[in-house]
Order: sequence, then structure tokens, then C-alpha cells
Amino acid sequence: MSSQTPLTILKIGGSVITDRKDEKPRIRGKGLARIAREIREGWDPGKFRLIMIHGAGSFGHPIVRRTGIDLGVRNESQRIAMGETQRLQSELSTHVVRHLLRFGVPAFLCQPSASAVMEAGSLVSLNTEALEGLVRIGAVPVLNGVPAYDRVQGCSILSGDQIAGFLYRRLGGTRILHGTDVKGIYTADPSRDHRARFLATVDLGGSSGLPTGVTGSSVTDVTGGMRKKLEEMRTAGARGRIFDATTRGNVRRALLGEAVGTGVECG
Ligand SMILES: Nc1ncnc2c1ncn2[C@@H]1O[C@H](COP(=O)(O)OP(=O)(O)O)[C@@H](O)[C@H]1O
Ligand SMILES: [Mg+2]
Repeated sequence: MSSQTPLTILKIGGSVITDRKDEKPRIRGKGLARIAREIREGWDPGKFRLIMIHGAGSFGHPIVRRTGIDLGVRNESQRIAMGETQRLQSELSTHVVRHLLRFGVPAFLCQPSASAVMEAGSLVSLNTEALEGLVRIGAVPVLNGVPAYDRVQGCSILSGDQIAGFLYRRLGGTRILHGTDVKGIYTADPSRDHRARFLATVDLGGSSGLPTGVTGSSVTDVTGGMRKKLEEMRTAGARGRIFDATTRGNVRRALLGEAVGTGVECG
């Protein structure tokens, strides 16, 4: 597979594969199996290379909020919490990869915090040579949101949304497909404002900034919700789509290039 083949970065939110309303780690097994099947149906290895990223949902946000490790580690109990948060992400990722392999997607788990370096919450370096090699041989690297080493504060949270933007820029991505738990971008958070209007397209280019009504998440969240997703896309100059991956068929349709959810352009 040539490095000229278009590269799709598919990020599936923790809100899709776990029960985020639960403060305890809980997987949505049926949803995960459906998504794995849809990836198999929607991905044509002859047409594009694929990297998959997933979020943490109830495996990550509650423990991080409880222990404060997103703001650094200062004592032994926070170092234990950092290790436990990491262990939970490995557990979740193992489930994701097991489903993908079972449905015939050649998934390969790549634990990002083994090489990620953060600086006050921003991702400044990640070794991508192995990732590039893996996609070249036709594998689908699977990365996830994790606690990571931070030069300034010791530890911070590297979100799946940050990884998506970073890899888009570094590897020359073609599109970022964000599967989440809402239909797309609205004029306000639809879970808080019933007058919120759905936007079929959003242009993040130019100086006008992000649409003002795009905010964080309405459940326990430490990585900035929808606002941070769009900020990361804008920083990366990424185009793509934000769509509802809890609706049957949408992951397959998004991979096939259909206009599900909100189309995102960057000027
Ligand atoms: N303007 C908006 N349009 C759509 N969703 C929004 C908006 N503002 C805030 N949100 C919130 O962002 C959430 C999605 O982000 P997040 O909870 O981080 O999901 P994920 O698990 O996919 O990362 C939605 O469930 C919604 O509550
Ligand atoms: Mg999120």
C-alpha cells in the first residue's frame, strides 16, 4: 500500500463504546460489535488507509475527575491513580481490538503514552514511524485516549481528539471522522438547549473562530467535549465529519464518504 493512498482517521468517542452516564467503567458490548462490523463493511483497503482512535468514556473521565491527575501528579496516591487509569484504558482497548479482529479488521493496538510527550496538556511529540509502517503493511493501528507524561506538570490527559488532530497533520490525513453521541454540530449543546439547531456544515477557517454555542460535554468530562474536538480540528487544518455513531449504519456510511452528520471544512 503506497503512502499516497488517502488516510482516514476514525475516532469513536467513549460516549459510544461505554456507558458514560455510569460513573463505573461499563462497556457497550453490542454497540462495539456493531461498530466493528460497520468498519469491516465501510473500509476498502484498496481505497484508503485507516487509523482508528477511541475515547475513554466511563473508563477514564470519572477516575481522572476524582483524582485530579489531568492537572499533574504530586503524591503517591496520584501516581497509583495514573497507573490505574492507564490500566483501565488498556482493558477497554483490548475489548475494542478483540471485536475488530473478530469481524476481520486487522487491528493492531498501539499504546500512545509509551512515546507521547505532553507540555501543559498539549501533545508535543509522538513517535509515528511504527504507525506509518503499520498502515503501509495494511494493518489498522488502534490508539486511545490515555494519561501521558507531561514535561511541565508530570502528567496530563492525552485525548483521542488530540491524537486525531496530531496524526492528521503529521501523517498527511485526508479526513477525520468523529463518531460521537450527537447527530453533529448544533448552534448550542442539544442536551441542554432544546432550541439548538443542527448545522449541516461548519467552516473552521478564517478568523471568526468556533461557533459560540459549541461547548463541553454534559456528563463527567475532562477533555473538553465538542468544543475541544473542533479546536483540535482547526489547529490541524483538518476536514472531515462529526456524526452520530450510536445510530446503526452511520459508521459504515461515513467511511463510504456519505454525508452523515455535520461536514467540517477548514477554509
Ligand atoms: N454545539 C454543540 N453541538 C453538539 N454537541 C455539543 C455542542 N456543544 C456541546 N456539545 C456536547 O458535546 C458532546 C460530545 O462530546 P463528548 O461528550 O466529548 O463525546 P465523545 O465521547 O464523542 O468525545 C455532546 O454529547 C454534547 O453534549
Ligand atoms: Mg470527548
